Amino acid sequence: MTRTEDSVPGPAPGIASARPEATARLMAETGLDEAILRELVHRFYDRVRADDVLGPIFEARIDDWEPHLDRMVAFWSSVALMTGRYHGAPVPAHAPLPVTWAHFERWLALFRQTAEEICPPQGAAHVITQAERIARSLHMAVRNAQAAPGTVPNLS
Ligand code: HEM
Repeated sequence: MTRTEDSVPGPAPGIASARPEATARLMAETGLDEAILRELVHRFYDRVRADDVLGPIFEARIDDWEPHLDRMVAFWSSVALMTGRYHGAPVPAHAPLPVTWAHFERWLALFRQTAEEICPPQGAAHVITQAERIARSLHMAVRNAQAAPGTVPNLS
């Protein structure tokens, strides 16, 4: 089949990506871009910080919010748009936290609410699915660490 100009994803406009074609395709499919993800992250953490249960857990561990928010925008850019911008390690950051699945449920409820407000419908569905998947795997890491404190989380 001959591919037309329209069907060939070009470099993603206004976004640096390690995989520009994948990023352009995801942007077209989801309606997401870096500005929307930035808004999502900032509004979401405003809500998290104001939350009676989650707020204190974050405030006890994050002194300077600017770098955390920048890291989270890079994370969501990598997860949702495959830009490869995030180079961190979420598992060791969460494994020692004093949390249960109820905390993840609360985190997800705030995330869903914010995503539905900020993102176009396809984009909200995309980031919510990813967040649910990652929450389940971080919860497994937390449970492993709680069962065997001080050991490396077993993710198999
Ligand atoms: C119970 C729910 C959660 C709590 C209480 C929580 C708490 C935290 C805290 C306190 C940090 C900062 C750690 C530090 O800098 O020492 C952090 C970092 C981070 N969180 Fe969460 N988190 C939760 C769920 C999630 C979920 C579901 C995701 C992904 C969808 C996520 C993604 C991240 C990422 C990417 C980082 C940065 C890790 C790094 O590169 O250092 N978190 N989280």
